[in-house]
Amino acid sequence: ELKYDYLIVGSGLFGSVFAHEANKRGKKCLVIEKREHLGGNVHCENIEGINVHKYGAHIFHTNDKQIWDYVNSFVEFNRFTNSPLANYKGKLYNLPFNMNTFYQMWGVKTPEEAKKKIEEQIKELDIDNPKNLEEQALSLVGRDIYEALIKEYTEKQWGRPATELPAFIIKRLPVRFTFDNNYFKDKYQGIPIGGYNKLIDKLLAGIECKVGVDFFKERGAWERLAKKVVFTGKIDEYYGFEHGRLEYRSLRFESSVLNSDNFQGNAVINYTDKETPYTRIIEHKHFEFGKQDKTVITKEYPQEWNSLNEPYYPINDDKNSKTFTAYRKRAESESNVIFGGRLAEYRYYDMHQVIGSALVAVKKEFDG
Ligand code: FDA
Repeated sequence: ELKYDYLIVGSGLFGSVFAHEANKRGKKCLVIEKREHLGGNVHCENIEGINVHKYGAHIFHTNDKQIWDYVNSFVEFNRFTNSPLANYKGKLYNLPFNMNTFYQMWGVKTPEEAKKKIEEQIKELDIDNPKNLEEQALSLVGRDIYEALIKEYTEKQWGRPATELPAFIIKRLPVRFTFDNNYFKDKYQGIPIGGYNKLIDKLLAGIECKVGVDFFKERGAWERLAKKVVFTGKIDEYYGFEHGRLEYRSLRFESSVLNSDNFQGNAVINYTDKETPYTRIIEHKHFEFGKQDKTVITKEYPQEWNSLNEPYYPINDDKNSKTFTAYRKRAESESNVIFGGRLAEYRYYDMHQVIGSALVAVKKEFDG
């Protein structure tokens, strides 16, 4: 007799939403998580009373009212609005590219002047078939914005010259001719009041969870416990890397507690010059309008991925896409395993998207 209906491998948003919905429908679930805590990449650690985003800054945003209502049914969200700044060689610019940025860059005061400036720069370059990321970006925003706010930042992120990066990485570069520093265009955004752990705890309430357990260590034994497996780990690992390894970009986070109540006055400041080795500094308290005496900041350094650090961003180039297709074909033929989430689907998912995708999997599983 099988003890559980579902063994859920991974306690990130995909696994947690699936477990919650299955449990609600009377199914018995066991969640196993290889890290020492639940929540996957949205997990926060409390330091000096501040919720520190351990795996990079997480700002919830969506246009989908159903998803917004869904998360708000577990935890209330605050009114945090992401309005990052860029520091280029010591000078600050507002992001995303908007009238404030154009004023800071050229002194232009009207949308008409700003448009003229950008159009002139694009025309001067005369690129009609962008061959790489550099040409693509130049053809969209012109030289000044590209050089101060895109080029060196992107090269740090990818560890390669922009001329060697494919054009498809940048599809659009929205420029806004209003004085509006709100980074996201979505209707809803915010941070859970009390942090993301609260959301995860609510989702997993009443469900058996084991942390510090790697599925692959005793795979057979775990598989024999449940009728079905929901797998949210790396799909190539699930198949023993038989079709080759999927590649990622990684990050290194360097956090420090400072004896200051406000270090940079904003949650996110990007460093877009090549002289600064990190790409941004996060000051976590500002996500929740914190009034603590101290502050915690995190410098984010892009890194090559290896088997020792975290796989963060999938590299969706031709080679990796082909490898993934081979794994996906095998996954499609499994009848007792559901693959979901950023690692099993080898794609970058925002939180609202991964929740949406888990709810689709739930619907398919329980409503046919
Ligand atoms: P997630 O990785 O969270 O969970 C998978 C879990 O499975 C992990 O906990 C892992 O340890 C576990 N696992 C893997 N293999 C296992 C095994 N063999 N045995 C047991 N457990 C195993 N989104 C957004 O909307 N706004 C934002 O601002 C950001 N910011 C952001 C910054 C950075 C740096 C990154 C990398 C990502 C974001 N995101 C984001 C995206 C967000 O992190 C993402 O959508 C979700 O965390 C994905 O949830 P998953 O459940 O898919 O994976």
